[in-house]
Amino acid sequence: MKIRVLGSAAGGGFPQWNCNCANCAGYRAGTLRARARTQSSIAVSGSDEASWVLVNASPDISAQLQASPALQPNRAIRDSALVAIILVDGQVDHTTGLYMLRESVRPWPIWCTDSTYADLTRGNPILGVLAHYCGIDRRRIDLAGAGFTVDAVVDVRWRALPVASKPAPYSPNRDSPIDGDNLALVIEEESTGRSVVYAPGLSAIDERVWAAMQSAACVLVDGTFWTDDEMIRVGVSGKRAREIGHLPQSGSGGMLEWLDRLPTGARKILIHINNTNPILDEASVERAELTRRGVEVAWDGMEIRP
Ligand code: MLT
Ligand code: MN
Ligand code: ZN
Repeated sequence: MKIRVLGSAAGGGFPQWNCNCANCAGYRAGTLRARARTQSSIAVSGSDEASWVLVNASPDISAQLQASPALQPNRAIRDSALVAIILVDGQVDHTTGLYMLRESVRPWPIWCTDSTYADLTRGNPILGVLAHYCGIDRRRIDLAGAGFTVDAVVDVRWRALPVASKPAPYSPNRDSPIDGDNLALVIEEESTGRSVVYAPGLSAIDERVWAAMQSAACVLVDGTFWTDDEMIRVGVSGKRAREIGHLPQSGSGGMLEWLDRLPTGARKILIHINNTNPILDEASVERAELTRRGVEVAWDGMEIRP
């Protein structure tokens, strides 16, 4: 099993088009030691690297595919190594790329929960729009189920866990999320039993997701904000991290405290990094703290073999 990080930034990317925070401005000026990052997505292959699942379809999908030659084999006049799409929620940064994939020569198998399907056919009816192009072959993610496999992606088993976070602003559940609005994915290599927990949006860690994290070889989890009031302090928004579905890394009960308690040997990687987060600055004290704690920061093009 192989995971390729296509986009390691949160919604907006880094640098964000209209943002002049210290990170975005510093990157543009060439004074910040940091990598640019595109919006949130990963791709996963099994024992045959000719077939990949796209997990979340970012607005930056076209650039991400161009940067990933393995996803664009040349076997037919119209071709792709992507065989299916799994959505962890219905947010803009995870679904807008579906528009760019409309030229598919077959209906897209799209795995999502009922509540995400409802958001993507009502508040943001992108799946209905796609019906006028390639069409979709909707596969239902059953929250009570034992998991599922995706045809052609061999030796990989998927399990979806409902997690605390936030559905998109156009969801009727925005202010009172329900199970299925946001998922963590447990991605298991069946032959070895080794798993990766992928959760780009996580505002609290409950028993179920903690159990999955503790038995994973690698966790790839919410790295959006360093502090709860980060966007307020920087002056870009009046919203707190937890309020929009993201557990901050620092402080009491923060993500770093959780990651410290994982078994030795587990790989700990932050993903879905917001452009305001000081960890993007490779010379920052916050980044040094991650290094000291053995926590990595995902980057576009990073490959993980658990
Ligand atoms: C989030 O993760 O909070 C959202 O995706 C932000 C956004 O894209 O607007
Ligand atoms: Mn997001
Ligand atoms: Zn910024």
